[in-house]
Amino acid sequence: MPEPLLKPDTPQRYGTVSRILHWGMALGFAWMFATTLTTYFFEESALDELLWPTHKSVGALMMLLLLVRGAWGLLNARCRPASTNLLAHFGHLALYAVMFAVPFIGLLRQFGSGRAFAPFGIPLMPGFEGGAITWMTDLGGNFHGLLGWTLLALTVGHIAAALWHRRSAETNVIPRMFG
Ligand code: HEM
Ligand code: HEM
Repeated sequence: MPEPLLKPDTPQRYGTVSRILHWGMALGFAWMFATTLTTYFFEESALDELLWPTHKSVGALMMLLLLVRGAWGLLNARCRPASTNLLAHFGHLALYAVMFAVPFIGLLRQFGSGRAFAPFGIPLMPGFEGGAITWMTDLGGNFHGLLGWTLLALTVGHIAAALWHRRSAETNVIPRMFG
């Protein structure tokens, strides 16, 4: 029988759509952290002026992709590889929670500011008159950056764990997601 073009998730490996979402978003997060790290360390450099203006638009796209990925993960939850241990299970759940919270709070602050927002030129928020909605802008001011750096730390931990598991063939989880 010919192989299907899009391989489904199975208990042994993630399928094509899950892999595209995982690696596509990994690329997106690399971009997002490149924008924030350049702004943090090299503010007003040429690189910062190139990258920072993309932060909000790419961040909004990440929110959309996360919703698609979450829905896809829930639909396929029963046929995906089981977590190797409880820490991996809760680690993935924590990644999802923070991957949601960071852009959501960013968008909420953007809405609350009353300023129009058109990611990639697509009108998403028309803006409004009459002053900011302060609980939204305060939430963003207090938590967007904090949770953003937390996501970076969790991601580094996740990558380290995936590489650490490669030390023996039995524990290696890389083939589930790559190759
Ligand atoms: C996955 C998506 C996102 C990630 C990982 C992320 C991460 C971050 C991080 C780490 C910072 C630096 C905070 C600091 O300097 O301490 C930051 C700043 C900022 N982000 Fe995001 N962000 C995301 C999405 C968004 C979205 C969707 C918006 C708005 C539409 C947004 C608006 C901002 C703004 C205005 C700042 C500068 C003010 C501040 O430091 O809070 N971000 N972001
Ligand atoms: C070099 C970068 C990365 C490597 C080598 C990597 C590796 C892996 C591997 C091997 C798995 C399967 C683990 C298992 O089933 O036990 C996995 C799953 C997962 N990874 Fe990554 N990963 C990387 C980047 C990222 C990033 C940037 C994020 C998000 C911030 C992320 C979030 C997740 C999540 C949530 C899962 C669970 C499966 C899913 O729902 O997609 N990964 N990763």
